[in-house]
Amino acid sequence: MSFAAFKASTRKAFAPAPLASRTRVSLRSNTFRRFATESAPPPQAPKSNNTLLYAGIGAVAIGGVTWYILSSDSDSAKVAGSTVKSGVQAAKAATNFTPSKEDYLKVYKRIAEVIDSADDYDDGSYGPVLVRLAWHSSGTYDKDTKTGGSNYATMRFAPESQHDANAGLNVARDLLEPLKKEFPWISYGDLWTLAGVASIQEMGGPKIPWRPGRIDGFAAQVTPDGRLPDATQGSDHLRRIFGRMGFNDQEIVALSGGHALGRCHRDRSGFDGPWTFSPTTLTNDFFRLLFDETWVWRKWDGPKQLEDKKTRSLMMLPTDYVLVTDKVFKKYAKAYADDQDLFFKDFSAAVSKLFELGVPTQQWATSEPWLLPTIDEQK
Ligand code: HEM
Repeated sequence: MSFAAFKASTRKAFAPAPLASRTRVSLRSNTFRRFATESAPPPQAPKSNNTLLYAGIGAVAIGGVTWYILSSDSDSAKVAGSTVKSGVQAAKAATNFTPSKEDYLKVYKRIAEVIDSADDYDDGSYGPVLVRLAWHSSGTYDKDTKTGGSNYATMRFAPESQHDANAGLNVARDLLEPLKKEFPWISYGDLWTLAGVASIQEMGGPKIPWRPGRIDGFAAQVTPDGRLPDATQGSDHLRRIFGRMGFNDQEIVALSGGHALGRCHRDRSGFDGPWTFSPTTLTNDFFRLLFDETWVWRKWDGPKQLEDKKTRSLMMLPTDYVLVTDKVFKKYAKAYADDQDLFFKDFSAAVSKLFELGVPTQQWATSEPWLLPTIDEQK
């Protein structure tokens, strides 16, 4: 076991979150939610001039603003007016300072400190909720319209910040806000995905290849509701939602292994409980438990979810359970249950791809993603 994994596993074994920590975060309605509903029409694709992209991240931000103002009607031009400032500022910051890999490692280090500052929040780590932020900000991608994805970090804006699927992610966004102030040159998209990478790596998971290059977008680029998966659905739904992002069956199963981390919160999704006994350490336990335990429908007043018959303390979502009921999904799930190295290899590749969705190639600061060292390796 690596030191990072050891450290993670020595954090509090899971226990119901103290009420105080559940109520401390700002919460919305307590009703049970279905995540995805109808697909709204895709938003207007941002059409900033591609040649500007080559001129660098700062120029891209200005290009986007220029395009937006020129193509706006008077009402949305007012909105654009308020975004010009931040766009230009972002551009200025980007052109006045060219961050090196060492600068990103400094951000990584600060993220790791934030992850560990959780005290009695949930299971003693902010890692899981940061992973979820990175995934939800990337998983809005639509490969056909080339909209959504991690590029513009549009979850900062309503209505995307208010989408049911994103309930509770204000906690993660607020955690990273001071870091954005500390390192104003980093874009939100880079910060959020780097936080996802650092969380996975610091919680004992595999290295996730990552590189910078995302830029801050505008409220006009928010994605419509219904692009993220609905946990009450079945395999067709998973294939449709993840297929839209460009993922195949094997990648869907590998990505679902992220549920080895964290827990469901009644006051966020309506579901309740952790998937594994070590929710702050990434392992293949999610898959092992799916096969090794007997899962029964929980009798309660909440949404349909399963619980393990033996301890009744673990949970599975309907969408988790289809990984053992769908023949094709089951083949991959079994392979991951039997071989953690294989799971880590495939999870790393799929997460790296996920976090890069929606970012035009020419925006990347480097042609090859980096493998960033963990805090222990940096010592
Ligand atoms: C397969 C479709 C998926 C569905 C339907 C789904 C659904 C959910 C739900 C309902 C929650 C509980 C949220 C809460 O109440 O706080 C959750 C949490 C979580 N999900 Fe997923 N998810 C999916 C895929 C993924 C993927 C691909 C990842 C990452 C690779 C991921 C990572 C997480 C993590 C880490 C948490 C725990 C967050 C926390 O502890 O605060 N999920 N997911």
